[in-house]
Amino acid sequence: MALIETVNISQKYDDREVLKNINLKIDKAEVFTLIGPTGAGKTTLIRILDLLESPCSGRFLFDGVDVISSRANQLEARRRMSYVQQRPLVFAMDVFDNVACGLRWRHMKSTATKRKTEEALELVGMTAYINRNARTLSGGETQRVAIARALVTEPEVLFLDEPTANMDPISTAKIEEVLAHIINEQRIAIIMTTHNMSQGQRMASKLGVLINGELLQTGSVNDIFNVPTSREVAEFVGIENILQGEVAEADNELASIRVDGETVRAISNYAVGGKVYLLIRPETIVFSLSHEAGSARNVFKCKVNQINTIGSVVRIEVECGFNLLGVITTEAARDLNISIGKEIYASFKATAVHVIPRW
Ligand SMILES: Nc1ncnc2c1ncn2[C@@H]1O[C@H](COP(=O)(O)OP(=O)(O)OP(=O)(O)O)[C@@H](O)[C@H]1O
Ligand SMILES: [Mg+2]
Repeated sequence: MALIETVNISQKYDDREVLKNINLKIDKAEVFTLIGPTGAGKTTLIRILDLLESPCSGRFLFDGVDVISSRANQLEARRRMSYVQQRPLVFAMDVFDNVACGLRWRHMKSTATKRKTEEALELVGMTAYINRNARTLSGGETQRVAIARALVTEPEVLFLDEPTANMDPISTAKIEEVLAHIINEQRIAIIMTTHNMSQGQRMASKLGVLINGELLQTGSVNDIFNVPTSREVAEFVGIENILQGEVAEADNELASIRVDGETVRAISNYAVGGKVYLLIRPETIVFSLSHEAGSARNVFKCKVNQINTIGSVVRIEVECGFNLLGVITTEAARDLNISIGKEIYASFKATAVHVIPRW
């Protein structure tokens, strides 16, 4: 049985629907990351799952028990959860007391409180700060104290809303290290939100993409980043070539798809006449100066329209009947002696094209 299950949860603020029919299942000890653009409804959803607010409709089962209609069930479930909010607050007292307060509220004996608080601080690597006034800590240290405070009550599920928002790369890496350590040491479910796409990829066992209040896709990191099921998710995960096409021929799994008068070969099961989007990651496109007889099914003569060098990579926009964006290394760009207006060949494999329906 799933630890968390929502059925058609919706939320409205002043008649504006910010969550639409959210159906979600999260298992015990699963690490689930919610990604989505700003304003998508991530914080709203995480607050509903943490029982800080009630949805306007839908069902929410925690460990199989309905926690919306019964106040008693809600309180019981609440004790099994902890929440670290987007910008955690700490009290103007020392780090020890900031973490211990959760246990004192539960009337735990002082020896057990001391032991558990020390263990929680150890887990987040903050033992050395135990006597420091928490208000004097950096953003990353404050976050670690907030995580220790959330863990000290031994929850079965830990909610983290943007745990590394506005943090520098070193503090972000430290928090991720702490979370990875928690994931290994404690069998708890972790449900977090992030804007940070690479963090989503690194940390999650399962991802959900929330866009404009709709949970458009859930799946493994590979599913979401390489096999998006909609144009919106493809755009959000950075698949920059999204071509509109129509299936012209279908031969077993290899299809010919018309795109702006050109034919692109792709692996697809859609029937002739089917309207589709073709998704192609820029880094899968190979550029060359001649029509090489390589293994790629798709080779197009094209003209370079734009060149942008960003660090060690060069982004090249070409026109080959349709527009394509490729990303190559600066060395490869130098070898091609690439310049605007130059004619080159762009090639990509049929398997590099992911085909999804266009409604
Ligand atoms: N209490 C509220 N009253 C009215 N509108 C709200 C309230 N809380 C959130 N909203 C609106 O609901 C939408 C979703 O907000 P939410 O904070 O859940 O987004 P988010 O995905 O967490 O964004 P971010 O990535 O910026 O944190 C936004 O348009 C926001 O303005
Ligand atoms: Mg938010």
